[in-house]
Amino acid sequence: IRVEFLDYEAVADRGWDLADADLFAKAADADLAPADHGRLLVEPDESLLEAAENRGFSWPFSCRGGACANCAVYLVEGELSQPANHILSEEHAERGFRLSCNGYPLSDELKVVFNVKHLPELDELRL
Ligand code: FES
Repeated sequence: IRVEFLDYEAVADRGWDLADADLFAKAADADLAPADHGRLLVEPDESLLEAAENRGFSWPFSCRGGACANCAVYLVEGELSQPANHILSEEHAERGFRLSCNGYPLSDELKVVFNVKHLPELDELRL
């Protein structure tokens, strides 16, 4: 499963928006650092967070158990599983937010913006 990722900090720094249709194209043109924008492979038994860590990236997390939203990502393309009882509401989910600590890819390809914990709508959820 191939994942293309982008750090929300890079999005915010450049004044881009999560809703930009060409967000990943702009990221590709911007020559960002490998930790800020790139690709990684997720093995079938890895959560998205575990895959990032196992490939040498340090994405934010805290509880690793679906209770804090520090590990939240925004799905631009593809699908990531979302266990039932956790901190994100249905509304968050509909808008594309998922947890990377217990989210497993459900599609062959994913595009995600990680490090979205500082978005105002998620900031209030963090413990
Ligand atoms: Fe706390 Fe994922 S690390 S919800």
